[in-house]
Amino acid sequence: MNTNLSGMKRTDMCGNLRLSDAGRAVTVNGWVDRVRDNGGVLFLLVRDRSGIIQCTFDKSVNADLFNIAFTCRTEFVVAVKGELVARDAAAVNKKMPTGEVEVIASDIRILSRAETTPFEIDDSKEAGDQIRLKYRYLDLRRPSMQRNLMLRHRVTQIARNYFDEQGFLEIETPMLTKSTPEGARDYLVPSRVHPGKFYALPQSPQQYKQLLMLAGMDRYIQITRCFRDEDLRADRQPEFTQIDLEMSFVEQDDVIAVNEGFLQRVFKEVLDVDIQLPLPRMPYEEAMNRFGSDKPDLRFGFEIRDISDIAKGCDFAVFRNAVEGGGTVRLINVNGYADHFPRKEIDKLADFVKTYRAKGLAWLKLAADGNMTSSFAKFLKPEELDAIKERANAQPNDLLFVVADTDRDTALVSLGALRCELAKRLGLARKDDYKLLWVTEFPQFEYSEEEDRLVAKHHPFTAPMDEDVDKLESDPRSVRAKAYDIILNGCELGGGSIRIHDPELQTRMFRALGFTEEKAKEQFGHLITAFSYGAPPHGGLAYGLDRLCMLLAGLDSIRDVIAFPKVQNASDLMMQCPDLVDGKQLDELSIAVTRIEKD
Ligand code: AMO
Ligand code: AMP
Repeated sequence: MNTNLSGMKRTDMCGNLRLSDAGRAVTVNGWVDRVRDNGGVLFLLVRDRSGIIQCTFDKSVNADLFNIAFTCRTEFVVAVKGELVARDAAAVNKKMPTGEVEVIASDIRILSRAETTPFEIDDSKEAGDQIRLKYRYLDLRRPSMQRNLMLRHRVTQIARNYFDEQGFLEIETPMLTKSTPEGARDYLVPSRVHPGKFYALPQSPQQYKQLLMLAGMDRYIQITRCFRDEDLRADRQPEFTQIDLEMSFVEQDDVIAVNEGFLQRVFKEVLDVDIQLPLPRMPYEEAMNRFGSDKPDLRFGFEIRDISDIAKGCDFAVFRNAVEGGGTVRLINVNGYADHFPRKEIDKLADFVKTYRAKGLAWLKLAADGNMTSSFAKFLKPEELDAIKERANAQPNDLLFVVADTDRDTALVSLGALRCELAKRLGLARKDDYKLLWVTEFPQFEYSEEEDRLVAKHHPFTAPMDEDVDKLESDPRSVRAKAYDIILNGCELGGGSIRIHDPELQTRMFRALGFTEEKAKEQFGHLITAFSYGAPPHGGLAYGLDRLCMLLAGLDSIRDVIAFPKVQNASDLMMQCPDLVDGKQLDELSIAVTRIEKD
C-alpha cells in the first residue's frame, strides 16, 4: 500500500478553505476527525492545525474510492484530493469556518492508520488530566490546545520583534551554572569531570544579564527557560519560561515605558484590545492597605478599610485585644450582595479566611429592608457601630466582613484573599476584563522565619530607593527598593528592578543581609570583581511567559500553554521521569544514592 505523499501533497490547509476558493482543485493532508456515513454518501472530516474541512465520497460516483474512505477511522492520517465546491444552502454549517464548502473527493490515500485513542480528540469531551498528560501528543491535537500553542508562538514573535525594534540584542546564557543562595531551591546537575561538584540549573539569568550590561551590550533580551524546585501551583511549574530583559543607562521610568509599549502591542495584536497608557502605578504599601495583596486584582471593589481607631476602645475583646496587641482591625464591604450570603455561606467563608491564618471572621449584614444581623454588634455601643457603618459606607443589602489580628499583614492578607474569593463566587472577575498595573516601592527586605534574618525581597542586587539608602543600617525594615511588578488581574506577570551598580553600596547591601565579607566573596565574588571595572547604571525585568499566555488565552493553568508540562509532583507522565538511572552512570558521576522512592 502506498503511504507516501507522491501526487498527494497538500495545496491548502484544511481550515483556510472558503467560498472564494470554490471551483479549485485542492488536496488536503490531515487527521480524520470524524466519519459520517449517510448511506451511500460518506463524509470524512479532515483536521489539521488550521481547522477542519468536510470531504465527501459518493458511492454512486466512485465505488472504489468510497470503499477506501469507508475503511477510515478517526485519527487515521489521510490525503484527500478533489474539487472544492459550495455546499447546497441546506447543507451549510454555520458553526464551521469552512462550513460553506466541501471537497468532492476524486482521490484518497491512507498515510497512516490509528488505533482507538485512549480518549476522544474532542474539546467538548472531558478526559482526566492524568490520561491527557500521559498521551500529551494526542491532547495537543485538540483544537483548543493547538490554539493555545499558536497564541504562545504569536506572543514570543511579538516579543522578539518589539524588543529588536527597541535595540535589544537576543543573547543566550548558560543552563549549567552556579548554585547561589537567596531564592527557591536549585536543580543540581552533577559534574563527571569534577567529582563531588555540581552545576545548578538557572533560576533566572539574573547575574548573567547584569554581567552583559557590564560587558557593554546595552540592551539584552532572552526568551529563556528557568528552573526552580518549588511546590507547584496552577501558575507555577518547575521549569518555566521568562521573557527576560535588561537595559543600561536607565531609571525605573525608562524600563516601565519600554515594557508598557510591549504590553500594549501584545494586547492589540493578540486580542485586539486597546490598553491605555501609561498604566496605573501603586506603591506596595497602598496595595497592601487597600487590597491586602502585592498583586491586587482591580476588576472589582470591596476595598479594605481600617477601623482600628474605632475598635480600639470597644468592649468586644477580639477587636480591642488586636489593637492593644499592636495589631489592627480591618473590614471589607461586599456592597450590594448581602442577599447572596446566608448564614451557612458566611460560616464557610470564616473557614476560608482561617486558611490565611485569620483567627475568625466577624460580620455585619444589612438586609434590603435595613434590618441588621451581626456576629459582633451586640458587643459595641451604638455610636461605635454607627462609626463603623459610616467608615464602610454601609447601605441596605451590604455585608461587612471584619478581621482583627495582632499581626497587621494577617488581617490584610486574609481579607485580600476573601475579596478575591467573593468576587469569584459572585462572577465579578471577568476574564476578558484586563486590569494591568505596576506595583512599586516594594520593601527591600523581608523577614525569613526559616533563617531568622532579613532576606532580600526581590534579590540582593536590587537598588534601594535613593531616599531610603541612609536607613540601610539603622532601619533596614523601612527601606524601599527600586523594584516593580507588573500585575494583571491579580496575577504577577513579571517583576524587575533597578540594580545596584556601585560596589560600595553592594557591599553595604550584603552586610545588611547578614553576609560576612568572606561569604559574600565566596558566593558573589565574580560579581563584586566585575562591578569594580566600571558598571553602567542598569535595570530590567522578566515576564513569566507562561502566565502571560495563560491570561491572554483566558485559562486558569499555565499547564495549558506549555507543550509538555509537569504534574503536581513535578513528574512528566508521558516521558515517565524523573526516573532511576543505571548504576554505571552514577559511578561515573561519583554519586551514591542513599534513598529510593518506592512506587
Ligand atoms: P521573578 O522571580 O519575579 O524575577 O520572576 C519573574 C516572573 O517569572 C514568573 N515565574 C514563574 N512562572 C511559572 N512558574 C514559576 N515557578 C515561576 N516563578 C516565577 C512570574 C514572575 O513574575 N531575575 C528576576 C527578574 C529581574 O529582576 O529582572 C526574576 O527572575 O511571572
Ligand atoms: P466569639 O466571641 O469567639 O464567638 O467570636 C464572635 C465573632 O467574632 C465570631 O463571628 C467570630 O468569627 C469573630 N472573630 C473571632 N476572632 C476574630 C478575629 N480575630 N477577627 C475577626 N473576627 C473574629
